[in-house]
Amino acid sequence: MTTASSTTPKPFRVGFIGAGGIAHAHAANLKKIAGVELVCAADVSEKGLENFKEKQGIARIYSDCQEMLAKEKGNLDAISVCTPNGLHAPNSIAALQAGLHVIVEKPMAMNAVEGQAMIDAAKKAGKQLVVGFQWRFDPKTTVLKNQADAGVFGNIKYVRVQALRRRGIPNWGVFGRKDLQGGGPMIDIGVHVTEMAHFVMGSPKPIAASGMTATYIGDRSSTEIASMWSGWDHKTYTVEDLAVGFVRFDNGAVMVIESSFAAHIEKDVWNFQVMGDKGGSTFDPLQIFTDYNGQMWNNTPGWVGGDDNFYLKMKHFVEVCRDGRNNVSSGEHGLMVQKILDGIYSSAVAKKEVTIN
Ligand SMILES: NC(=O)c1ccc[n+]([C@@H]2O[C@H](COP(=O)([O-])OP(=O)(O)OC[C@H]3O[C@@H](n4cnc5c(N)ncnc54)[C@H](O)[C@@H]3O)[C@@H](O)[C@H]2O)c1
Repeated sequence: MTTASSTTPKPFRVGFIGAGGIAHAHAANLKKIAGVELVCAADVSEKGLENFKEKQGIARIYSDCQEMLAKEKGNLDAISVCTPNGLHAPNSIAALQAGLHVIVEKPMAMNAVEGQAMIDAAKKAGKQLVVGFQWRFDPKTTVLKNQADAGVFGNIKYVRVQALRRRGIPNWGVFGRKDLQGGGPMIDIGVHVTEMAHFVMGSPKPIAASGMTATYIGDRSSTEIASMWSGWDHKTYTVEDLAVGFVRFDNGAVMVIESSFAAHIEKDVWNFQVMGDKGGSTFDPLQIFTDYNGQMWNNTPGWVGGDDNFYLKMKHFVEVCRDGRNNVSSGEHGLMVQKILDGIYSSAVAKKEVTIN
């Protein structure tokens, strides 16, 4: 017989550092998970914080995250870090040192040195560090990963990653500030598709990268440029509009990454293509290409199932921290992705291929 106690999930108490756009998505999805309690939030924006409190039903709010961590000692199990990229490492480390599990938004940090410090802090604290990559939980990614693991692609030789916006420069937050974000589209949206493609490839180790970045629209006023999202701050825009990277992995495979906030292309693209010696695929539309019985086949799944990828990411976080599930979006994985980004950006400056350690 099932008893009440065996079906009631353990409480999981979450606080937030950063209460802007993506924190709302965290909170809304966490509220769908049984046992989760949204306890408190800290943000430097009073208006944003009040809005977050009201919309998400947060009990207590703070203008300073250190004060929150001190005053809420004993009231929390975990922290969701949703600040700009430059604050991911200090905020995550502060929360880990306070003895709390952490989910940190992507990219995990500004660079791999910060990422490593976060991993070290998690190890020292004996707490979980989950990097908020939702696309690896996408049902289509799951299909492709299962096919890759079953050997459908054979040896994966080449992966082409595209996270391209024709004209989509963020007009909120600090996404145009290199000092606060670490870069533009490559670190902001390229990271998503790179991460899911790298996961499908079986997470090989990146060993070298070559890259190019270019800025030609974001540093001009949006009043003089056609755009669906107008009003970005061109005066503080110090990131790239377009970045291209070529990455070598230890297993001989290579990846090309194209990412843009602004590019002269027909339409936006969110896709990756796998090319192996036995088969290939595209993410969007989801298709698998193989030879079968002497002919070339394009295969489309009839149904992929699954759930919303953002909900699955938050559910994974809770299950890892509360229920001991294996962390498949760990700091170690985030660090490998961060090394790819670092390699591309430093090669763009050096104008030659760089080694990734
Ligand atoms: N997973 C995704 O699909 C996704 C989508 C959008 C953004 N993000 C990531 O989420 C993070 C935040 O992006 P956003 O769109 O929510 O930006 P945002 O500007 O809407 O929110 C950031 C919040 O952080 C607050 N903040 C700034 N400094 C702070 C400090 N010292 N202490 C506490 N709060 C502080 C800001 O006031 C703001 O409310 C970024 O790292 C971004 O890359 C992820």
